[in-house]
Amino acid sequence: MLIGVPAETMAGETRVAVTPETVKKLAASGHTVRVQSGAGIAASVTDAAYQAAGAEIVNMNAAFAADMVLKVRTPTDAETALMKPGTVVIGMLNPFDAAGLQRLATAGLTAFALEAAPRTTRAQSMDVLSSQANIAGYKAVMIAADKYQRFFPMLMTAAGTVKAARVVILGVGVAGLQAIATAKRLGAVIEASDVRPSVKEQIESLGGKFIEVSYDTDEEKEAAVGVGGYARPMPASWLARQQVEVAKRVALADIVISTALIPGRAAPTLITEDMVKAMKPGSVIVDIAAGKGADGIGGNCPLSEADKTVVKHGVTIVGETNLPALVAADASALYARNVLDFLKLIVTKEGGLKIDLEDDIVAACRVAHDGQVTKK
Ligand code: NAI
Repeated sequence: MLIGVPAETMAGETRVAVTPETVKKLAASGHTVRVQSGAGIAASVTDAAYQAAGAEIVNMNAAFAADMVLKVRTPTDAETALMKPGTVVIGMLNPFDAAGLQRLATAGLTAFALEAAPRTTRAQSMDVLSSQANIAGYKAVMIAADKYQRFFPMLMTAAGTVKAARVVILGVGVAGLQAIATAKRLGAVIEASDVRPSVKEQIESLGGKFIEVSYDTDEEKEAAVGVGGYARPMPASWLARQQVEVAKRVALADIVISTALIPGRAAPTLITEDMVKAMKPGSVIVDIAAGKGADGIGGNCPLSEADKTVVKHGVTIVGETNLPALVAADASALYARNVLDFLKLIVTKEGGLKIDLEDDIVAACRVAHDGQVTKK
């Protein structure tokens, strides 16, 4: 099969959908891989490295003129126009972007959005949400440590003792767990909150403390179970109690890393302006949910501004919306392996395309086919 890999064009997108490692495997399976010149450069991969792995280096038009196009982000209008009907496009196509999916369908593409894969054991090796959220959690702590004008670890020196940083993590999915692990390695004292009580053990096993909020009604208990591993919106009564507990911790915190998301909905508000006002000067918030709040600018904190770092009430608030792109080489390496594993589900050993809708992962990821949006 002819596989094209264009350079990403979205502002700030540094990742690339293949690495020399995955190109080598695709070439060994008999595919022709055409990589756009410069596609890997921001992820530290040169054209020469792709060539050595067996890729042809081509221009943008040739990268899109393929049987299958491997992307990181959903194709723009201009990029979509470069693909012929029937092209298979695979990437993080944002299954909640109805207009974007319609565009792909109208162009006659067969599109697979990898974020739509179920969170099952079999799908783990192609779980792009996990591979990229893991990186986001790590990088959020690195950025916090950089902005924070004190140490993370407790230090006893001849010039006096330095206290360990207090870190509060809000939302303990994949990103939150990695943020806990990373902050712990740096020596911080960690507390974390999530709507799902099932994460308590995971937090404790990483050396953090779970912020307990009781579940008082059947409605609260039922909502906390979530759906398919994901959070559901919690009743206002529970959120109010959570806010009281979280506010106490945030007031004492040096660093807050918030990652709370509910798929397909606005990110919940967990750090109000009053809570920011109560924080110590010099504290840092890294809001991984920035840009996903109800207004499309804020995140778990309404004072966050997507893609900006701002100082409000003496607190530095980081609203970086694409943290994995700041760890471009490893983010690409993991993403490229996710893509390669997904290809094994839709490409036969002989190199042909076989889309088996009986396969729950294939069926869940296919968002457009034959002119129609086919999102499940
Ligand atoms: P996510 O990015 O959708 O959300 C992040 C976290 O925010 C979640 O833990 C969620 O419960 C939490 N949250 C939502 N509203 C909140 C609120 N009001 N207050 C505090 N926290 C709130 O989650 P992610 O990282 O995509 O993980 C989703 C689930 O998938 C998790 O249960 C994870 O363990 C599971 N998972 C399963 C895998 C597998 O079995 N193959 C692989 C990866 C993840």
